[in-house]
Amino acid sequence: MLTSFIAFTLIAAGAFGLAPPGPWDRFNIAPKDRISRPTIIHSIEGNVRNADALIGSGTATFNGNGSFVTLDFGLEVGGRVFFDVVHSTGDARLSLSFTESPEFISPLKSDDSCQQIFTMDGDGVQSLPVPLGTGKFMQTVRQQRGGFRYMTIVSHSDGPIGVAGVGVENTFMPHWDDFRAYTGYFFTKDPNFHDSDFLTKLWYSGAYTVQTNTIDPRSARQLPCLHWANNATGGLVDGPILADGAKRDRSPGDMGISSHTELVALNDMLPSKNALLVMFATQDPATGSLQYSGPPINAKGSDTYIAWSLIGTHNVWLYTGDIEFVHDVWSNYTKALAFLESQVDETGLMNVPQEFSQDWGRDGGQGRNIAANVLLYRSLVTASELANEMGEVRLSKAYAANATALKSDINNLLWDSTAEMFRDNDSSDLIPQDGNAMAVLFNVTQTREQVKAISKGLTQFWTDIGPLSPELNDTIIPFVGGFEVQAHFIADEGERALDLIHREWGYMLYTNLSVQSTLLEGFTANGSLGYRAAAGYDFDHAFTSHSHGWATGPTPAMTFHILGLGITSPQGKTWSINPILSGLQFAEGGLETGLGWFGVKWEVSDDMLTVEISTPTGTSGTVRLPGKGPVTVDGIAQEETNVRLRGGEHVLKRHV
Ligand SMILES: *[C@@H]1O[C@H](CO)[C@@H](O)[C@H](O)[C@H]1NC(C)=O
Ligand SMILES: *[C@@H]1O[C@H](CO)[C@@H](O)[C@H](O)[C@H]1NC(C)=O
Ligand SMILES: *[C@@H]1O[C@H](CO)[C@@H](O)[C@H](O)[C@H]1NC(C)=O
Ligand SMILES: *[C@@H]1O[C@H](CO)[C@@H](O)[C@H](O)[C@H]1NC(C)=O
Ligand SMILES: *[C@@H]1O[C@H](CO)[C@@H](O)[C@H](O)[C@H]1NC(C)=O
Ligand SMILES: *[C@@H]1O[C@H](CO)[C@@H](O)[C@H](O)[C@H]1NC(C)=O
Ligand SMILES: *[C@@H]1O[C@H](CO)[C@@H](O)[C@H](O)[C@H]1NC(C)=O
Ligand SMILES: *[C@@H]1O[C@H](CO)[C@@H](O)[C@H](O)[C@H]1NC(C)=O
Ligand SMILES: *[C@@H]1O[C@H](CO)[C@@H](O)[C@H](O)[C@H]1NC(C)=O
Repeated sequence: MLTSFIAFTLIAAGAFGLAPPGPWDRFNIAPKDRISRPTIIHSIEGNVRNADALIGSGTATFNGNGSFVTLDFGLEVGGRVFFDVVHSTGDARLSLSFTESPEFISPLKSDDSCQQIFTMDGDGVQSLPVPLGTGKFMQTVRQQRGGFRYMTIVSHSDGPIGVAGVGVENTFMPHWDDFRAYTGYFFTKDPNFHDSDFLTKLWYSGAYTVQTNTIDPRSARQLPCLHWANNATGGLVDGPILADGAKRDRSPGDMGISSHTELVALNDMLPSKNALLVMFATQDPATGSLQYSGPPINAKGSDTYIAWSLIGTHNVWLYTGDIEFVHDVWSNYTKALAFLESQVDETGLMNVPQEFSQDWGRDGGQGRNIAANVLLYRSLVTASELANEMGEVRLSKAYAANATALKSDINNLLWDSTAEMFRDNDSSDLIPQDGNAMAVLFNVTQTREQVKAISKGLTQFWTDIGPLSPELNDTIIPFVGGFEVQAHFIADEGERALDLIHREWGYMLYTNLSVQSTLLEGFTANGSLGYRAAAGYDFDHAFTSHSHGWATGPTPAMTFHILGLGITSPQGKTWSINPILSGLQFAEGGLETGLGWFGVKWEVSDDMLTVEISTPTGTSGTVRLPGKGPVTVDGIAQEETNVRLRGGEHVLKRHV
């Protein structure tokens, strides 16, 4: 009896653990299994007989030095390439080159994944062993390519070489059997864009981006660079880590956006937790500072990234309820927070020293910088909550008091009442995108008027393809753009948020310069891939990452704001539902936590908004709907417009 009961609950949990099937599944671009095959012959040079066999069955024969085929896998993939050498000659030579963008397809070079070099000479090609024996060739872990879409197979010898059965064994998400087993979903139609499926596609594109960034910690990038050797240790943890990128930066670091994407699509916080364990292990025992990337990059000197690690710890706890994890890192966590607070000066603000002013790549950042202080504020607010959970009530109150004082001091020192936005620091008139977007996101604003003014003010930086960041010349930076999207939603400017998404991500996902599947690290004012070209990347457009978790902000933003789903205590024991219609006619989706399924489905018809919600029994929350007049719940008119509900299924309606 007991056995069959256990079997039953396990099956039920498995079935309930997955997002419900529906038309949205068509937009899930994750490969069906670990093996991906090329789907298109991009181009052929020289004499290659039966090249089509490389995307089908049979054998393609390379005849002669310099003949090559570029294969297109159709989307970003990453892992160990393999194929059969069916026949060969004594002097046979083959090489492989790779790229994410079609702009850098070449028989002689790959795009750069380790060193930024103007001439794109960093990675080179992989030359296969000579003599090239017949049989199966497969890249080693070290030789694997972290992220690519195009692979070029080149013959460097005269004799015929037969190649068949080309594929790649994807190595990302090492702990998942089925890449497509998403726990969350999102679906809408966008009437205001050339592709009405854009927002749904983008949601899935963000999810897949984060999957390709989730790697075995033994497959991080070697430093110093050994071409593209990917067999370094990215931290002493057993399980998968969330890294910054697929091709590049295969090392943990920024998780201010990608952790949320992990929750809403995958309910898989393990890679974030492991990445944070790596970050805490980098603590300098003397000062308490943390690095801003894990091994082997081991970059040091960023107050903002230290704050992100603290904030990320709270996110993992909020989404999983894993207080043991907080316990394990608590002494390092409090010490790292004390390190940041030790930089607070007589103004009440943190005065970022030059040597801790590294950030996402922007200029400046030192001094009483708005973004850094907003992140300190958020660190203190969340630390107060965690301290309370840890039973340290006095510490919790002390963090909260410091947060309150900091918020007031930031407003006194940095609010520019003429610009109606925050200044970058007290000795500059520059109005930054990052600090303003995050001030709204993390509630450093004191009034609704400020929120509205910042949302409006941020549009002054917009171009047709996204905001030009005032903090770094010639740069459109989707990491910061992701915070800005959320800021507009929080300001209740949903149509403005979608306008921004259309411009910035609408460019990124469709331009033929990009990998057109996963999301770009950044780009420039004219749409080129020369992100940070003049600011550290040595004008090497091939260095830019096409799969960077920090660019996935719209994925969680659409779940949190278009569906309006908010997790307000661990795993959603309490929740909020506050959909922002944003000019759409309907939207549906949801997410899973350890407590179960949280779903929202809304539709506007004949000026009536109908919202179906589903939350786990035993939870409770508040629903706030836009519109006018009373709200009905399951047909009964309510006195309040903020409706408090217990978990379960409900239908709410309101005139809009
Ligand atoms: C992108 O499209 C433009 C216009 O059709 C074309 O000139 C260009 O070569 C394409 N770029 C790539 C990398 O395919
Ligand atoms: C193949 O062509 C290259 C470039 O022309 C040349 O350097 C190389 O020696 C040739 N290899 C053979 C085996 O002929
Ligand atoms: C990575 O590969 C290189 C070359 O094969 C080898 O020397 C090195 O020991 C490997 N490193 C690890 C951590 O496995
Ligand atoms: C805390 O920091 C020390 C170095 O100061 C490190 O050795 C230890 O592993 C860290 N603990 C955790 C749980 O990360
Ligand atoms: C203040 O901000 C400006 C603009 O970002 C920057 O150039 C400058 O270095 C910062 N100065 C100080 C002292 O913080
Ligand atoms: C609060 O701020 C003061 C002044 O910066 C600092 O001395 C104190 O350690 C902070 N308290 C906590 C709990 O972080
Ligand atoms: C934001 O801060 C204000 C006080 O300035 C507070 O009243 C409000 O509840 C906070 N909002 C959130 C969402 O925490
Ligand atoms: C900003 O970038 C543009 C485009 O690369 C360049 O022409 C200009 O000189 C740069 N301006 C500054 C101040 O660096
Ligand atoms: C676009 O801007 C980059 C610098 O960011 C420059 O290198 C490139 O030449 C520009 N491209 C065009 C077509 O103007």
